[in-house]
Amino acid sequence: MDQTAARQWAELRLSPHRLAHVAGVAAMADELAWRVGEDTANCRLAAWLHDALKEEDGPALAAEASRRGLADELRLPFLLHASVMGARALADLGVSAAVAEAITYHPIGRPGLGQIGQILYLADKLEPGRQYDGVEALRELARQDLASGLRATVQAIRDFQSRRLDPQPIHPLTEQWLSELKRGGQRSHKMS
Ligand SMILES: [Fe+2]
Repeated sequence: MDQTAARQWAELRLSPHRLAHVAGVAAMADELAWRVGEDTANCRLAAWLHDALKEEDGPALAAEASRRGLADELRLPFLLHASVMGARALADLGVSAAVAEAITYHPIGRPGLGQIGQILYLADKLEPGRQYDGVEALRELARQDLASGLRATVQAIRDFQSRRLDPQPIHPLTEQWLSELKRGGQRSHKMS
């Protein structure tokens, strides 16, 4: 599947509001990929597919996750749209393992997440339609230095989730990833 087909695939499944978000993610993923020399077509492909199942029926996604044998840590309700899409894209749509990983882990990240996954995570949280305190500074940081932008964005999202009136549990993989990023465990991509 190429990015044009992926876009059509998403357009068939998503409301206009969500499609606008996805288009913003594709544009930002393209820009970040270009800045660090990553494959822009693959980043756009991952972006178009990342939320394509977000408006699907939860029980149907849970059933597909069981059928595909997804790990327990990927079967939390808020993760199913991502983990099922990643598995489906790898098995049925012919995307690369790196693109499938990016889609699967885009809500939470994970230690050792590849660069396409890092770019999708950032683009999802920082696309132009996102508006929250500090987002512009995070966007600018991600444009200047992917690793610094990633560390700051994961920390900001984590803090935001724990400060909510209805605090959300932080996924253990996110905590492990943030620790890794703070140790400088992922490569830095400084732009000249
Ligand atoms: Fe998204």
